[in-house]
Amino acid sequence: MSRLAGKVAVITGSGRNIGRAIAVRYAQEGAKVVVCDIVAENADGVVEEIKAAGGEAVADYTDVSQPEQVDALVAHAVEAFGGLHVMVNNGGAVRDAVKHVFDADIAFFDRVIANNLRGHYLCSVAAARHMAKSGGGVIITTSSGGATRAHRGMTAYDASKGGIEALTRALALDLAPYGIRVVGLVPGFIAPDGSTEQDKSKNAATVPLQRAGVSEDMAGPAVFLASDDAAYVTGSLIPVDGGVLVQQRSPEVETFPVEGFPTV
Ligand SMILES: NC(=O)c1ccc[n+]([C@@H]2O[C@H](COP(=O)([O-])OP(=O)(O)OC[C@H]3O[C@@H](n4cnc5c(N)ncnc54)[C@H](O)[C@@H]3O)[C@@H](O)[C@H]2O)c1
Repeated sequence: MSRLAGKVAVITGSGRNIGRAIAVRYAQEGAKVVVCDIVAENADGVVEEIKAAGGEAVADYTDVSQPEQVDALVAHAVEAFGGLHVMVNNGGAVRDAVKHVFDADIAFFDRVIANNLRGHYLCSVAAARHMAKSGGGVIITTSSGGATRAHRGMTAYDASKGGIEALTRALALDLAPYGIRVVGLVPGFIAPDGSTEQDKSKNAATVPLQRAGVSEDMAGPAVFLASDDAAYVTGSLIPVDGGVLVQQRSPEVETFPVEGFPTV
């Protein structure tokens, strides 16, 4: 468990759920972690959890949509741990980004784009400016299946995620000569921590692997992408979704249902 030994990583939105799972796992893998979240008490709680398990972490309360705060976030990582090697863009508007397009005004659209696409852009570029001068690094983005197959009621969110996928590819090209890899995670349905089994099974019915994802499902792929095992991977987006994006029909309406598969 030391695949990230010697690395300093910022994980945005790591006060809960997916970001928290990545921060905890990065610390277990030897990284020094900046737990960034606008909800200060959640960031503090994750730092305590990491420290209690013997890891190294500091809390940061940056709003990723604000350029001055993002510059200060990078400076905070460098000051606390002497460098910055991995920037995981994870935080943003998720559950508060659901509204039918007729009910959403332009302020709603701008807020979702600012927290997601603009936040990814600002954190990536600020991190890259440091990494370019200090031997390179890795930038991880977080998209969604909604970037390629839309959610109902999530116009602004899906547009932000489509932008994040294009941003991932474009940054990969601009930053490759500086030794910086830019890669993306595409989560499927990842149940919020504390979800009931009933909530999880409702979504599980649409998933080829037949279960809802949990936050920890995102952690292994996030470690791989940040590690030297992924040294030749850049510009790629990896779905972590139990197979949802590759299927034409959900199992519930499949003409060749799973129940009819051969017994082995
Ligand atoms: N959970 C899923 O099913 C799912 C599916 C597809 C994509 N994703 C993506 O994965 C990421 C994490 O999702 P999650 O389910 O853990 O979401 P979440 O809402 O539980 O966590 C997001 C975190 O980001 C923080 N945050 C929000 N705006 C911020 C800002 N401006 N600056 C700093 N922090 C901010 C929040 O406080 C929160 O702690 C998101 O990018 C989301 O779009 C999640």
